[in-house]
Amino acid sequence: MYDYQLHQRIKKVLSKNNIGSGKEQDLSFYTRLIANAAAIKILYDELYGQHINADKLFDELIDELAKTHVKRSPGLQLKDTIKEKKGYWFLSNEIAGMSLYVDNFCGKLIHLGGKLDYLKKLGINFLHLMPLFKSPAGESDGGYAVEDYKKVDERFGTLEDLQAVQQKMNAEEMYLMVDIVLNHTSQQHEWAVKARQGDKKYQDYFHMYADRSIPDYFEQTMPEIFPEVAPGNFTYVPECDKWVMTVFHNYQWDLNFSNPAVLIEMLGIMLFYANLGVDVLRVDAPAFIWKQTGTTCQNLPGAHTILRLLKQCVQVAAPGMALLGEAIVAPKQIMDYFGTGTYTARECDFAYNATQMALQWDALATGDTRVMLAAQHEVLKKPYGTSWITYTRCHDDIGLGYDDYMIRQASFEPYQHRKFLKDFYTGNTYGATAMGALFGANEKTQDARISGTLASLCGLEKAIIDTNEEQINVAINRIIVMQACSFFIGGLPMLFYGDEAGYTNDYSYLNNPAKSYDNRWMHRPIIDWKKNTKIDIAGTIEERIFSATQKLIRIRKALPVLADNSNLVWLSPYNIHVAGFLRHLNDKRLFCFFNFKNETAFVDWQVIKENGNPPTVLFDHWGQKEYVVGSENGYLILPPYAFCVLEDIS
Ligand code: GLC
Repeated sequence: MYDYQLHQRIKKVLSKNNIGSGKEQDLSFYTRLIANAAAIKILYDELYGQHINADKLFDELIDELAKTHVKRSPGLQLKDTIKEKKGYWFLSNEIAGMSLYVDNFCGKLIHLGGKLDYLKKLGINFLHLMPLFKSPAGESDGGYAVEDYKKVDERFGTLEDLQAVQQKMNAEEMYLMVDIVLNHTSQQHEWAVKARQGDKKYQDYFHMYADRSIPDYFEQTMPEIFPEVAPGNFTYVPECDKWVMTVFHNYQWDLNFSNPAVLIEMLGIMLFYANLGVDVLRVDAPAFIWKQTGTTCQNLPGAHTILRLLKQCVQVAAPGMALLGEAIVAPKQIMDYFGTGTYTARECDFAYNATQMALQWDALATGDTRVMLAAQHEVLKKPYGTSWITYTRCHDDIGLGYDDYMIRQASFEPYQHRKFLKDFYTGNTYGATAMGALFGANEKTQDARISGTLASLCGLEKAIIDTNEEQINVAINRIIVMQACSFFIGGLPMLFYGDEAGYTNDYSYLNNPAKSYDNRWMHRPIIDWKKNTKIDIAGTIEERIFSATQKLIRIRKALPVLADNSNLVWLSPYNIHVAGFLRHLNDKRLFCFFNFKNETAFVDWQVIKENGNPPTVLFDHWGQKEYVVGSENGYLILPPYAFCVLEDIS
């Protein structure tokens, strides 16, 4: 779709920024810009075409892209080219990630470089550094209430320290992910401060209303995100006598993306991060960025238009940076974040496979994989060229947001089933070993999510308290089967720091008034490096979990069939306790089975024979042994919580 007027406007902006077509890098930028310009304009007009300043602000948008290109270092431009040549670099089986809070992990950014060897030993070559930018000490939501998007919080160090870490990571061929908190700012952000003082320009950066009439209208259809600590979606601001939308905590003010000035500000910040050398940008809470009365204000078409627009812009100015949309939404809706129609695989490159994560917890509690299986027809719709972040735990709670019909299909009653899961993980069932807590319990809807570390939810904390060796072994097996399933299912596996060494819940957050109201802090441990030295002492809990995790990463990196080429087929193991899938690539086949039950499971070899040429010999990469298909009385035998990764070597 060539547009002469658009071309001329672009040429003007480029010549202003001294971007000629002489240099090779300029030429690539120019080509990318021209290729995406029409799409950018159409998406922009869809949202802002009728805005009074639409044209002026559109020029600013193009200017932002040009400036980012001019400022992008030759090193990053070279990295862009290398990634572009590789194609979908981020689908690789050779990437393994970890998410961590710098302060809890090692104190400050300057100490992180010294910990890279530990991470590399584990096999980690991708780091998600939890929010680092300036946020108020007391009301920060773990850094997700940003006061200054371009200033690293003093708690962690300086922007130079971050750049130094990035360079060190880059030299070690490690990738970096940081967050852009797009939906809201802290009430201490300069824009909010000015809005509070009555500055109309900045009041328009937020959803501010003179009285309750529109807020009340919104409230009729908007759910509550943190009902216990932040009920409602609006907060009164006495200084300017207005109500401001605050979907999350009352100190997190929602940005108003119907104002194009906000979009351009946020694009500028995203591109600033891109030029710091960020490889994947985690777009926080994108489901919420577009608001409309009469709706839940989640997953609206406007939110997708914004994401598409941002994606096309990033592709032009910083093509090496991929986008992760942190949309923790129902299985059906998540797919839209990868783009639909002409935008298929042109919106977010990654999304969290929160459905699979929650369903693994479901299967671990019931010992039954049927709900997990019932959801897969939705999960499998992910388009080629996009990928999942796969995980068992992250810094947030575990939501049980998969659909009721999936639970019914597995012959459970949804309400009772979810109640069972919540009781199970908070230790309220007979013989329960999990030590989690309910998060965000909503009395009105009876909805609740679950907090707790991987280890504590798997029973390790209780087993240690009870000095019960047998239960310690069971818990460790549970931890490993959970990790294994998420490592091999396809996508970039993202560990949560501490889980590699079996950290149990940390209750010290209760003594800190800035954290005590939010029990998600129980699973955000402070690393005790003395404890972590035990990863080298054979037979300790730390060593057993660390070595097993290390081995999982090693196996994944050695098998290209595990790269996310949308090459997964679910198997029907004729055994409700076992989840099984096949990963295939050209003539390679890998059959993976996971026993989610605390009992030995038998899997008929028939399952393997049903998929293509029946293999005769299989090699288990986990157990390091060969199986002749059909032996062992016709069954593959999986001890409690065991799994195998069987490559067809016939
Ligand atoms: C995301 C973050 C979560 C935070 C919320 C509000 O969901 O993962 O920790 O509370 O956004 O920013």
